[in-house]
Amino acid sequence: MGKTTACSYTPLLLLLLLLCWAQRSDHGRPSCDRCDPQLSCDCSHSGFTCVPVVTDLALTLDLSFNNITEVTERDLTGHRRLKALSLHGNRLAVIHPLGFDSLWSLETLDLSNNQLTALNHKWFRKLGALQKLNLLNNPYRSLASPSGFQGLVSLRRLLFGGPALEEIKRADLLGVTELEELAINANNLIRYESGALADMWPLGRVTLSLHRPFLTNKSLASAILADVSYPNTPMVLEDLNMNQKGSELPLKEAAKRRIRSLTFRNLTSSDEALIDFLKVMDGVPLSFFSCEGATLTGEGRLEPASKTDYKAIDEFFIRDLVVLDVYKFVSLLQLWFLLHYPRKVSVIKSQVFVMPCLTSHLLVNLQYLDLSDNLLTDMTLKETLCKGDSPLKDVRVLNFSGNALKSLSLMSHLVEKLPKLTHLDVSRNIFSSMPQSCSWPHTLRHLNISRAKLSAVTQCLPTTLEVLDLSNNDLKSFPLFLPALRELHLSGNKFLSLPSGWLFPNLQTLAIQSNTLNMFGQSDLQSYRRLQGLQAGQNKFVCSCGFVHFLQSVLGGGGGVQITDREESYICDSPLSLQGEPVSQVNLSIVQCHQVLVVSVSCGVALCVALLVWFLLWRFHAFWYLSMIWAWLKAKRSSQRRRQRDGEATEALLRFDAFVSYSERDAGWVENYLVPELERPRENRQDPMNSPQPLTLCLHKRDFVPGHWILDNIMSSIEQSRRTIFVLSENFVQSDWCRYELDFSHFWLFDGNAGEEAAILILLEPLSKDDIPKRFCKLRKLMSSTTYLEWPQEEERCGEFWESLHKALRVQGQDDG
Ligand SMILES: *[C@@H]1O[C@H](CO)[C@@H](O)[C@H](O)[C@H]1NC(C)=O
Ligand SMILES: *[C@@H]1O[C@H](CO)[C@@H](O)[C@H](O)[C@H]1NC(C)=O
Ligand SMILES: *[C@@H]1O[C@H](CO)[C@@H](O)[C@H](O)[C@H]1NC(C)=O
Ligand SMILES: *[C@@H]1O[C@H](CO)[C@@H](O)[C@H](O)[C@H]1NC(C)=O
Repeated sequence: MGKTTACSYTPLLLLLLLLCWAQRSDHGRPSCDRCDPQLSCDCSHSGFTCVPVVTDLALTLDLSFNNITEVTERDLTGHRRLKALSLHGNRLAVIHPLGFDSLWSLETLDLSNNQLTALNHKWFRKLGALQKLNLLNNPYRSLASPSGFQGLVSLRRLLFGGPALEEIKRADLLGVTELEELAINANNLIRYESGALADMWPLGRVTLSLHRPFLTNKSLASAILADVSYPNTPMVLEDLNMNQKGSELPLKEAAKRRIRSLTFRNLTSSDEALIDFLKVMDGVPLSFFSCEGATLTGEGRLEPASKTDYKAIDEFFIRDLVVLDVYKFVSLLQLWFLLHYPRKVSVIKSQVFVMPCLTSHLLVNLQYLDLSDNLLTDMTLKETLCKGDSPLKDVRVLNFSGNALKSLSLMSHLVEKLPKLTHLDVSRNIFSSMPQSCSWPHTLRHLNISRAKLSAVTQCLPTTLEVLDLSNNDLKSFPLFLPALRELHLSGNKFLSLPSGWLFPNLQTLAIQSNTLNMFGQSDLQSYRRLQGLQAGQNKFVCSCGFVHFLQSVLGGGGGVQITDREESYICDSPLSLQGEPVSQVNLSIVQCHQVLVVSVSCGVALCVALLVWFLLWRFHAFWYLSMIWAWLKAKRSSQRRRQRDGEATEALLRFDAFVSYSERDAGWVENYLVPELERPRENRQDPMNSPQPLTLCLHKRDFVPGHWILDNIMSSIEQSRRTIFVLSENFVQSDWCRYELDFSHFWLFDGNAGEEAAILILLEPLSKDDIPKRFCKLRKLMSSTTYLEWPQEEERCGEFWESLHKALRVQGQDDG
């Protein structure tokens, strides 16, 4: 029995296990939801060890700098919309052959800096949209065979190779024909099949790292250079050490093909190697020469190459040049044969502390000089610009950014006589104040004094400026009229409000991020007549209703001005409840925004409701009920008190035969008919024996103790009376409320004491039960249960009435007795 059960459950168990496993494999994966509204997901630097679960809608996915080791078949299924995927800097060693199969839209794939020991041609089969593929710095020794790139019909940028790459064969790159960028790390390449890279044309920028080949296998290096050198292909050569004799030889291939743009990156060279290089390139129409990150072991004695021809040279770009023997360096004067030609010279971050005035005299064609990030001071700049008499008459752009300049007035004086100067960048210097007046060339249009320590602006700024960058200073205000200004950068200062737009009638762009702006409004922006773009994020915004609504309308495209920085950078700083919330997402309620209105409206509503309630209470006699209950409670209490005081003596207390309750208007009848008839009854002539007894009546007018509370009076009167006679009439019911109210309270008192027989009703005029208002329910009840006496309209029947009344009083009196 047990065995069969187990057997029949086995498939179910298996299924469960399978389900669990499937779930685990999906749920075991961590997920990453750091996606911005543009569906760009940044899951980098998160320590993932496998590809995390990310929304299928993602357009870009950055998984760089994790510890991912594997891409399985299922990791990326569903990502049909993904355009860019980066797995840079992981420990990726295994990629399933079908791992990328669903990435139909992928345009950029970065697999650089991983542990891939072999490339698989199946990976890229389905990536027809791929434009950029980066396979750099993985430990594979060769590319995939057969060519893994054949299916990549859109490929325009290909980067591959690494320290382990040993060979490149012709078959490896089949199908790759037209590239905008090719980068190969072939520092340790041993075998190269000639022509392997020759099919690529047109070819954009080529970057080759050829450390070992240049040192040890010059023919290999030559073969590669021969295959990728074209006049219009900028060439970048990395990691070369040219200290050896003859290490320049491979460059002959490039020279033969008359390349025009050459860049060395991470170069080590001596004077001799440079001279050889200059000789090899002699006569080549090289127009751009650049050196980024070079170590020069020599002293700059390049005179031996002075016969060479570099007439075509247009630009020198040198950055991060380290001269090992900087004290022995003989200055750039040795390069006189090169300096006549270029229009652009940049020597950046190369510890230049002076460029002698004499060198300036050589740079006859110079239009653009960039000496940023060096060691220039006021004094050495004076020398560089020949004390304000600089021969650089053609220069248009001067960049002294990132030096140690202190005096703006000296600066202005030194450039004053440069008749064509339009751009001056003196950002990242240590100017701490602005003189009251300066003398700039009239041509100056762009001025950059950002990242200084200026705390105020003065008339020093020329009115010719079109672009002014004063970001990252200590400015609080800007009281200066600049009629030509188109662009003003004031980010990173201490502005509390926007400067007045009337000062800048032509301003089109204003950047004022990271200040202490509280808010701005329609009128502020309207003062800028031409403003198109505004960047004002990262300020300390006070999210008042007016500001929030205004900014939301501007962000929504309302108003002529466009917000050109990120919407999310507009964040509320106060009030506290909104701190940290993006202004675009703040939802202020009407209550918060129109407090006065809301208060007055709610007061009005409350008043109306109160009036309505009061009216309803009045309409339904609630006050009457309330006062009745109150009166009744009070009366009951005092009656109790009285009774306790007087003990339970009853008969003795009965001073009256009847208490008469009547309306003031019926007083005539009561006093003229009722009282005489009952207190002094006429003899009954027919039956003297049956003559009515005289009765004592209690009338409030006559018998109430003066000075006592009326209710108490009534209470005690009733208690001291055997009966209560109610004289009912229209008057009683309708007109004489007060009186009736009091009487009503007595109906309550009857409860449980005398009972209903204690009351005698006299109807002075015909009155139906329905004429009595509903709320006098006790009276209505009495009228239906007790027979009442009707005062006859005809004189003859009066005797009959009196007789009945007497009888009623007597009978009941005897009953009581
Ligand atoms: C990756 O793993 C290594 C060792 O397993 C660890 O040292 C490193 O911090 C991890 N990297 C990240 C980004 O988590
Ligand atoms: C620069 O090149 C040398 C070889 O000449 C190499 O060892 C070094 O790693 C390279 N440096 C960089 C930052 O690539
Ligand atoms: C000046 O150099 C700095 C740093 O190299 C650069 O950021 C800036 O754009 C340059 N300015 C001009 C006007 O080229
Ligand atoms: C001004 O200089 C800074 C720092 O060099 C640079 O970042 C900025 O782009 C420059 N401004 C303009 C308008 O070029």
